[in-house]
Amino acid sequence: MPVYSEKVMDHFMHPRNVGEIENPDGVGEVGNPVCGDMMSFYIKVRDNRLADVKFKTFGCGAAIAVSSIVSEMATGMTLDEAMKITPRLVADELGGLPKNKFHCSNLGHEALQKAIKDYRSKTKTKGGAK
Ligand code: FES
Repeated sequence: MPVYSEKVMDHFMHPRNVGEIENPDGVGEVGNPVCGDMMSFYIKVRDNRLADVKFKTFGCGAAIAVSSIVSEMATGMTLDEAMKITPRLVADELGGLPKNKFHCSNLGHEALQKAIKDYRSKTKTKGGAK
């Protein structure tokens, strides 16, 4: 049985920013074929910053805690700053994750990056950032 930090338990029991954003500027969906967990991130961008970040996660407790903390960390960041959130940073911010749960923090960083890339690819075709 993995031992979770208090912060992981807090974000698992009371996840922040759960849900979907209506008309999101970017969406990132990832899944892990081994554990079957899935995570979706929705973002709103204003002036090159993440004005809102929400998520829906179908997964383990660590994946839910990871989604919650990533959404908190990323909100207010510029897109470039948010792209630099690594799985290690996410795990550190949560006070550590058990080794066999480290892949869960990977999902969070991948889903966020995918949402930002989705936004960037859309604005490129539309010709200009918000
Ligand atoms: Fe797969 Fe946590 S066990 S995301």
